[in-house]
Amino acid sequence: MMEWTDRHCRFFLRQLSHHTLLYTEMVTTGALLHGDPGRLLQFDPAEHPVALQLGGSQPGELAESARLGEVHGYDEINLNLGCPSNRVQSGRFGACLMAEPERVAACISSMRRAVDVPVSVKTRIGIDAQDTYEHLHGFVDRLAQAGCAIFIVHARKAILKGLSPRENRSIPPLRYEYVYRLKQDFPGLEVIINGGVSSLDDAETHLAHVDGIMLGREAYHNPYLLADADGRFFNASRPLPTRAGIVQQMLPYIERELQAGCELKHITRHMLGLFQGVPGARAWRRQLSNAGPRTGAGTEVLLAALEAVAEVNARDNSATAGGMQYHA
Ligand SMILES: Cc1cc2nc3c(=O)[nH]c(=O)nc-3n(C[C@H](O)[C@H](O)[C@H](O)COP(=O)(O)O)c2cc1C
Repeated sequence: MMEWTDRHCRFFLRQLSHHTLLYTEMVTTGALLHGDPGRLLQFDPAEHPVALQLGGSQPGELAESARLGEVHGYDEINLNLGCPSNRVQSGRFGACLMAEPERVAACISSMRRAVDVPVSVKTRIGIDAQDTYEHLHGFVDRLAQAGCAIFIVHARKAILKGLSPRENRSIPPLRYEYVYRLKQDFPGLEVIINGGVSSLDDAETHLAHVDGIMLGREAYHNPYLLADADGRFFNASRPLPTRAGIVQQMLPYIERELQAGCELKHITRHMLGLFQGVPGARAWRRQLSNAGPRTGAGTEVLLAALEAVAEVNARDNSATAGGMQYHA
């Protein structure tokens, strides 16, 4: 997710779940081929498995970008066919490519020839008036013929004129049944559902119909939900990490990054939601938001924030204990 799933965010999420596949932000072929690929593709080995998402529409450029991604060690190369932003449309890629199946097929073939790692697409269920199941079926069929075997489908259509990207993530209705049907019609393809999944219980319900679930906003705003994913979906027997334990695990990474010139706020901004839904969430966020951006801020900010959370809990506990005494 643009501006969200940068390498710091992914490293943090990886502490919560060892097995889920993480995705980069979309990186355009233009930025990669004419910019600084070393910087754009940099990631920590601990992030594996990690997929690189590309934005582009020229088969040759996508092949070259995919190859760069593979050389840098990415485990999967994904093509963005779902972004509806004006900027992306003016570059003629993202969701508007759903109107050009032949071009996308050429892109997929070319990327597949360039790399050995899997090539996947992230698509919508349709765009504008091209929103029937039959249209989606035809699109997927064409891409499958071109060699794409992994489809991540955001179960909403995109409206290319008149809605902002944000509105395009909530206004068009979710049609999960389209994605379920795809899996029925193409049992040999890996079909991953995306859009509006807000808990692992929801995820489990979808898993009765499709091969996987992609979590977007919920994983970012409430990342601790990922802590249960390994045990629930990957048969991992690791004990559930605690939130405080996750913070401790982050400290050596943060020290390293600070020494390399990174500012604390660039890492802590992704950690604001760690205590979402539990006592101390507000104290945690407040500490990180106030002290994180200060010049020279270091890991002491996180330790102080943990203490603030502990204080809230101690206060709550003594209030409860007091209440019980009163009622006794
Ligand atoms: C801030 C933000 C940035 C996003 N950037 C991307 C992106 O770069 N590539 C992409 O395929 N989807 C992107 N998305 C869309 C999400 O991947 C996802 O499809 C959408 O949010 C619906 O899933 P959710 O309900 O689980 O969030 C972005 C979403 C948000 C909120």
